[in-house]
Amino acid sequence: MTESLFLKNLWYFAMHGSFLKQGKLIAKEVLGERIVFGRDENDVPFALKDNCPHRGVPLSQGWYDGKTLQCCYHGWKFDHTGVCTGIPALADETFDTKKIKVFKYPCKEISGTVWVYIPQNKTQLQGADEHIPNLLAPASKKFLFVEKVIMPADIDHSVIGLIDPAHVTFVHQSWYWRSAKKLKLKEKKFEPIDLGFIMKRHKPSSNSKGYSILKGETSTEINFQLPGIRTEHIQVGKNEIISITCLTPINDHETELNHIFYTSLDFVKFIWWPLRQLGKQFIHQDLGVFKKLGEGLKSKPTLMLLGEPDAQARWYHELKRQWDLSQQSKTPFKNPVEPKTLHWIT
Ligand code: FES
Ligand SMILES: [Fe+2]
Repeated sequence: MTESLFLKNLWYFAMHGSFLKQGKLIAKEVLGERIVFGRDENDVPFALKDNCPHRGVPLSQGWYDGKTLQCCYHGWKFDHTGVCTGIPALADETFDTKKIKVFKYPCKEISGTVWVYIPQNKTQLQGADEHIPNLLAPASKKFLFVEKVIMPADIDHSVIGLIDPAHVTFVHQSWYWRSAKKLKLKEKKFEPIDLGFIMKRHKPSSNSKGYSILKGETSTEINFQLPGIRTEHIQVGKNEIISITCLTPINDHETELNHIFYTSLDFVKFIWWPLRQLGKQFIHQDLGVFKKLGEGLKSKPTLMLLGEPDAQARWYHELKRQWDLSQQSKTPFKNPVEPKTLHWIT
């Protein structure tokens, strides 16, 4: 079976909740679909297909008073569930406008972040209750926003760049973080979880100086899950730090990367500004190499995934194929990853 580029019937990170203000609409392309996001009167986010069912004008180009969306072309009105509530030019008062509907995507706010479910089939949304992203943070807590960038690459290249251990030495070199001169053999244990795999809890490596400012017993656990979510959970004594990178395909040549952060450590609010700059720097280092990669890929060279440093990238493709298979055959997803210890030098 050939692997499709976009996985359907899954939840995708749409935006940090702070961007979605009441009374405002935000249009986004997600997996090549145009979607308009907003908040209803109760501040609950919603997501609708961003085309007026009349003649297709984006609803995001119209008006929104926090209750009713109105198309800018002929003024048709819709509520936030997508139901048409008024057609100004229509004299026939017996016509039931409620028969006209804009497709409403399942949409959820989780710990201050907005997610959207992209179905394979718009009449079958039953799967939306499954595989809701688990951000590991308490539900009442909010993630802070670190950065958003557009990677000039498809989702597969972007994911592989995210879970690839070997680039760290060369792309993320910084005098205060780590240096290419002190390479070490790493040995990491992996296991399958839900829709992905987890690098089991371990002590942070001694050539990552960034960890050394943390007091108390420190350990870290990193997981990756379809469609493109990497979660790093750091335990510091009784406290926790959660750093999440989410990849959302825009279309077949651009992918949005969002980085969010949560910690129960109180002092972090005093160092949030420099910490955020550090996070942004990391992301822009990746973006820098992706621009070069984009140049290289124009000539469509043949590529390879080699040895244990690329094992996670191979697992990603296997996970994708299994997800596709389970959705097409309507059978439960079987995680293809086996527990394994991987080695690499970084
Ligand atoms: S296109 Fe939207 S009302 Fe006509
Ligand atoms: Fe990176």
